[in-house]
Amino acid sequence: MQIHETIASLRAARSKSGRVALVPTMGNLHAGHIALMTVARGHADQVIATIFVNRLQFRPGEDFDSYPRTFAADCEKLAAAGVEHLFAPDEAQMYPQPQSYHVEPPPEQAGILDGEFRPGHFRGVATVVMKLFLIAQPDVALFGRKDYQQLMVIRNMVREFNLPIEIIGGETVRAEDGLALSSRNGYLTTGERAEAPRLYRVITDLANEVRNGAKNYSALESKAMNKLSLNGWTPDYVALRKKLDLQLPSAHDSGLVVLAAARLGSTRLIDNLEV
Ligand code: PAF
Repeated sequence: MQIHETIASLRAARSKSGRVALVPTMGNLHAGHIALMTVARGHADQVIATIFVNRLQFRPGEDFDSYPRTFAADCEKLAAAGVEHLFAPDEAQMYPQPQSYHVEPPPEQAGILDGEFRPGHFRGVATVVMKLFLIAQPDVALFGRKDYQQLMVIRNMVREFNLPIEIIGGETVRAEDGLALSSRNGYLTTGERAEAPRLYRVITDLANEVRNGAKNYSALESKAMNKLSLNGWTPDYVALRKKLDLQLPSAHDSGLVVLAAARLGSTRLIDNLEV
C-alpha cells in the first residue's frame, strides 16, 4: 500500500483507467471500516482510503483533540484489506489557510437530529467530503450506514452538484451483543460497555412495534427515551423518520427508520435501524 501525505502525490498515483473507489475515514479503523474497504474492492479496480480527523466537523468542546489516532495499526489493517492507496494528509495539506468556502447543506436536512445537537457538523462533513472528492476524483465512494444522516446529506450533495460519483452505503457492523462498532466505543468504561447494547435493543423494540402496526409514533419515541434515561443515559433523540429525507412521517407513510443518539457517561453514541 502506498501512503500519500500530499494531494500532489495522491493525484499522481491515482489510476487514469478503470474504476476508482474512495473510502473516507477518520482512522481508528474497526471491522465496520474494513467491511467498507471490501465492498469498495468489489466495485473498483483501485481503492483509495483516507484518514483525516477533520477539525471542521467538531464543535468546540467536542472530542477533536482526544479522537483516537492509531495510524500504524490502521495502516496494517488497510494493507491487509488490499487497499492500494492511503491518503493521510495533515491539516496544513487540507487547510493551508482557514477554509472560507463551505458546502452548506440545507437546514431541513442538516439542522435536524444530529445537526440540532451538533450545529455546523454536517457543514464540516460536506465541506471535507467535497474536498476529498475533488482531490481523489473517485468513480464510487463508500460511507457507513451507521451515520445515516451523514449518508443522506452526502447523497443529496452529490445529486445537487451533479458529481459523477456513485455513493454506496455499507451495512452497520455490530458486536455480538448488538452494539454498533464505532471508534467512540473505545471511550466507554467496562461498566458502560456492558450497558451500551441497550441503545440497539431500544431501537429494535421500537422498530418491532411499528412493524406490528403501532402508529402512536411520538409515544413510542418517548417510551424509548425513558427506557434509556432510566438506565443512566442522557438521550438527545430517539426519532422515527422517513428513510428518504429523514422528515417526520405521517401514519400512512412506509419506508421508515428509527434513529437514536444518546450519551452514556461522557460518550455520545448513535445508532439506527430501518423498519
Ligand atoms: O464518517 C466519518 O468518519 C467522517 O464524517 C468522514 C465522512 C470521513 C468525513 O470526515
